[in-house]
Amino acid sequence: MSTNNQFGSKLGLIAATVGSAVGLGNIWRFPAEAQANGGAAFLLIYVICLVVLGIPVMLAEFSLGRASRSDAFETFKKLAPGTPWYFIGVLGILGSFLIGIFYMVVEGWSLEYLVTSITGNLYEGVGKVVPGTNVAAADSAFVAKMQEYINTPWAPMVYTWVVIGINLVVLLGGVQKGIERLSNILMPSLFVVLLILCCVSLTLPNAMDGVEWFLKPDFSKITASTVINAMGQTFFSLSLGMGILITYAAYYPAKTNMPQTAAIVCAASLLVALLVGFVIFPAVSSFGLADHELEGTTLVFQTLPVVFACLPATQLVSALFFLLLFFAALTSTVSIMEVSIAFFCDKMKMKRTKAVLLVMLPLLLFSGVCSLSFSTLADFKIFGMTIFNFLDSFTTNILLPVGAIALCIFAGWVAPKYLVKDQLTNKGTLKSWIVKPVIFILRWVAPAMIACILIA
Ligand code: TRP
Repeated sequence: MSTNNQFGSKLGLIAATVGSAVGLGNIWRFPAEAQANGGAAFLLIYVICLVVLGIPVMLAEFSLGRASRSDAFETFKKLAPGTPWYFIGVLGILGSFLIGIFYMVVEGWSLEYLVTSITGNLYEGVGKVVPGTNVAAADSAFVAKMQEYINTPWAPMVYTWVVIGINLVVLLGGVQKGIERLSNILMPSLFVVLLILCCVSLTLPNAMDGVEWFLKPDFSKITASTVINAMGQTFFSLSLGMGILITYAAYYPAKTNMPQTAAIVCAASLLVALLVGFVIFPAVSSFGLADHELEGTTLVFQTLPVVFACLPATQLVSALFFLLLFFAALTSTVSIMEVSIAFFCDKMKMKRTKAVLLVMLPLLLFSGVCSLSFSTLADFKIFGMTIFNFLDSFTTNILLPVGAIALCIFAGWVAPKYLVKDQLTNKGTLKSWIVKPVIFILRWVAPAMIACILIA
């Protein structure tokens, strides 16, 4: 792998890895999971999962990637030659492509909502919303708008294609000039926008009720499923289990301190999830929408516009929010697609341009078809689910945990004996107390815990 295929700076590699981790998972998935699972009680378990599962599995991916300096497939071929462990790589390449198919569709929705916030189209016919009077009417109006939007075949497909085009341009730029440069601009902007939105939300009347609800643990709501959901959220929000971090770590310089990088990435991802909570819960409770089911698409595309319509600078705040969502999604999708692109560049020795086109052009077709899941193809079901829901739940609930468990076993038991230790200490030049606990977790704790998710 040539040196221009490396991240150029420490800040850049952190921005890119945080960019991969922070995405729709933090912005729509986290608040929905938190609300459904007892607020702060869920938060507490999520933090424990981040530390005991997230950081070790992340370090396993980092170690394998930097030790082999290869894509997700070649990594296993190189580290365990002549064995079938490369199936983890195949799973990662296929799985990440499948995630890319539906993720691009949601990224397209974000862009459409950004554009219609700016043009004012989104708020046309709804007008100002005043709590206590027309909240319910506004709510049905936005539900209807979302339904109408996804039920028309063309608009969502065109927006999906536009975001695929944007991803393509970034990916053609390569690691340093594409992914790293994009992340260096978007990630700091994301934090700024998020802080502005926090200020808006926390100064609303009765904002503290929402904060209290978010931060006061209700331990009576903790059940086995709370723990399982917190583990699923950990993998999804840190991009674990699909070889994404193997691919990125292959671009890390030899001197990168990986335990420190993993700690920063986890902390940044948690911080974004917390800040999003401080944006959403105060706003929702201030406007009396707290009994709403805060679920995925519903929350972001239907409930939040009601909140924005209650605020003075509706279009501005709305545009800022959808910009945030779009930035977060974009830095995640480039990482998702890089897994397959790295495979073609590395294993198949293809030129980058050719590899990018080979991966992204079929995506136009697949994501385009997926964007029709709610309109033309609404009646087409796989195991009783629409194409979109099938891809979403199959990848998140099955492929991610299977990938993660295989990775832990590989890093803990199969990979050369000192590989993880050498990588975490940069061949003995860094001291780290973390090595022993990480190896113990990879061998015993993580596989057992993940097996619980799978069985459940
Ligand atoms: N972590 C990203 C998010 O929170 C999504 C993501 C990127 C992802 N790469 C992944 C999820 C790989 C699972 C596997 O939105």
